[in-house]
Amino acid sequence: MAQAPARDVRYKPVMTDEMIEAATRVLRSGKYIRSFPLEDSEGKRFEEEFCAYIGAPHAVNVSSGTAALHTGLLAAGVGPGDEVITVPNTFSSVADVIILCGAKPVLVDVEPDTYNMNVGLVERAITPRTKAILPVHMNGQAVDMDPLMAIARRHGLKVVEDVCHAAGAKYKGRFLGTFGDAGAFSFVQNKCISVGGEGGMLVTPDPRIWESSMMLCNHGRGRRWFEGHKAYHMYRAQQIETVGFNYRQNELLSAIGRIQLRYLDEWNVRRRENAALYARLLGRFKHDLTLPATRPYAEHSMLRFVVQTPRRDELRAYLENRGVHVMVEYGTPIHLDHAYQPYCGAPEGTFPVTERLAQTILTLPCYQTLDADDIGYVSEVIRQFYDA
Ligand SMILES: Cc1ncc(COP(=O)(O)O)c(C=O)c1O
Repeated sequence: MAQAPARDVRYKPVMTDEMIEAATRVLRSGKYIRSFPLEDSEGKRFEEEFCAYIGAPHAVNVSSGTAALHTGLLAAGVGPGDEVITVPNTFSSVADVIILCGAKPVLVDVEPDTYNMNVGLVERAITPRTKAILPVHMNGQAVDMDPLMAIARRHGLKVVEDVCHAAGAKYKGRFLGTFGDAGAFSFVQNKCISVGGEGGMLVTPDPRIWESSMMLCNHGRGRRWFEGHKAYHMYRAQQIETVGFNYRQNELLSAIGRIQLRYLDEWNVRRRENAALYARLLGRFKHDLTLPATRPYAEHSMLRFVVQTPRRDELRAYLENRGVHVMVEYGTPIHLDHAYQPYCGAPEGTFPVTERLAQTILTLPCYQTLDADDIGYVSEVIRQFYDA
């Protein structure tokens, strides 16, 4: 009979008694939906607390990172015929939201060591149709924002940051998400904050982007609808301000998110400690792994500890068989993905760095819930793989 692995090293959601009590309080209150975004609610308090934490003037609590990106792009004015510059090594919804705005994703390759947008390639991708740049702070590490923002300013482009991996991470001491016209965060399971399901936040310094996003994620309801709601004569009183979505966040999950926010710094520190321990332990034996590179300007969230090896698939199977749950994020570059062929499909060889990474990267478990023994176990299994 096959032996059970010595350990099970995987992602485990953090859901403390305090978080469960907060969710229970909302359940008992009977108020789950936030139809009036300016009234006191768990969602509104979460927005205020997130703004205070990150140093952003405005926030909109939404139902996912995808919703935050979508409303952020729309509110920044991205529409049909526009082009948005982003990267091919990203989560599919980045391409989706650009396309759903009626715009075209224009891809630029990434740096081989940080997996982030190669800012040196951005300027030559700009055309008269370019409306915005969408940098993804990949795995939790900052894109080089100073030169990127300088390019955006020079060409009058909007910047919507994808901060889905990087809540609490910084560039030159300043929180990511606060550089561009808007920053989109994800709180889905296994992100830096995971509110117990799906969740997201859009932050912005621009009151017009805030107001538009607030309306877009709440059925397009604005002043005309809220004022109309108070009217005695209801016939035609409530008018929808703009065509919108239902991207509202559930009050239950916002209540959990408010508590998780208090732990964010501690969890980021713990993941950085796990990453440092990996680097120490993996430095003790010979292997062909390329370990994550952190730039001096970046305070990494270490949401993902991503290594590279030409023997990726073999190592992946070896680890999985010994109870270590690893991931490949992402194995299919956007330009080679079936759905995106009509929009930004390109032949193999077009983005060589991304294509090589898609064949060599492996995410080792580095979660805040893992301790030194877990990291030691994974490192030991890797040592056995290279010794065999
Ligand atoms: C880089 C990136 N952008 C956007 C998203 C979308 O976030 P959500 O799943 O909350 O919609 C994700 C992932 O989950 C992501 O990894």
